[in-house]
Amino acid sequence: MTGLLEGKNFLVTGAANSRSIAWSVALAIKREGGSVALTYQAERLKRRVGALATKLGGAPMIELDVSSDEAVRQAIDELARTMPVLDGMVHSIAWAPAHDLQGNFVETTRDGFAQANDISSYSLIATAREARRLMTRGGAIVTMTYAGSWRVVPNYNVMGPAKASLESAVRYLAADLGPEGIRVNAISAGPIATVAARTIKDFSGMLDLLESHTPLRRNVTTEEVADATVFLLSDLSRAITGEVVHVDAGAHATI
Ligand SMILES: NC(=O)c1ccc[n+]([C@@H]2O[C@H](COP(=O)([O-])OP(=O)(O)OC[C@H]3O[C@@H](n4cnc5c(N)ncnc54)[C@H](O)[C@@H]3O)[C@@H](O)[C@H]2O)c1
Repeated sequence: MTGLLEGKNFLVTGAANSRSIAWSVALAIKREGGSVALTYQAERLKRRVGALATKLGGAPMIELDVSSDEAVRQAIDELARTMPVLDGMVHSIAWAPAHDLQGNFVETTRDGFAQANDISSYSLIATAREARRLMTRGGAIVTMTYAGSWRVVPNYNVMGPAKASLESAVRYLAADLGPEGIRVNAISAGPIATVAARTIKDFSGMLDLLESHTPLRRNVTTEEVADATVFLLSDLSRAITGEVVHVDAGAHATI
């Protein structure tokens, strides 16, 4: 499996450190011959993401805080200087206040709900709208979701409705952008111990449960999510859009 993305340009958001799903995605895109630009959320992450960009052979790096439409627009304007044409974007961003990722869902705060949806779901719409300006020869957008969108997972709480909204946005965006040759899909990944995941209370309990209950009797890795992302970014998936692909060792079928 080589060269699936040869000659293509990709924006990969959400690589905060070497354990991020987005980092494995960036490495997999590079392995397949694609060029990658990375984003970092804020100044405090610049050095760490800079080290990742260096490992990619000096990938362009742009600041992107998705909580502001203006910041998203500026980030894509900046990207256009090094990558005037984009063939794909990976949206690998989520956030919710820690106090809304534990306890009873009924206690979810209004602010926490709004922020979780803004950063984890609306951000796909905002980034797709801007990235589209550079996707002049069509392409693919892939976002990351989790099965807590459609079944109750203890402590996932406010992120459940946010991921449901994200998955719905995938379908609406697919309908809007399909005529331009832009496909939009999501990967529903099994739990992986990243920084974002560890803010969910008793996250390791989730990993333990899945190890004994998934059809494959194991959890998944960021590399496995990345390989499926490459598939969705590549022409191998050219007739697939508006889809949620489970990369979860089969957990969705049994739990
Ligand atoms: N790790 C899992 O178990 C798992 C499972 C399924 C889906 N996902 C999803 O995968 C995606 C990536 O998460 P991860 O597990 O790699 O964790 P991570 O913590 O490595 O990545 C989350 C990223 O979101 C970014 N981010 C948060 N707020 C932002 C903002 N306002 N502007 C820009 N960026 C912002 C962070 O900087 C970070 O890079 C998320 O959407 C997450 O919900 C994760």
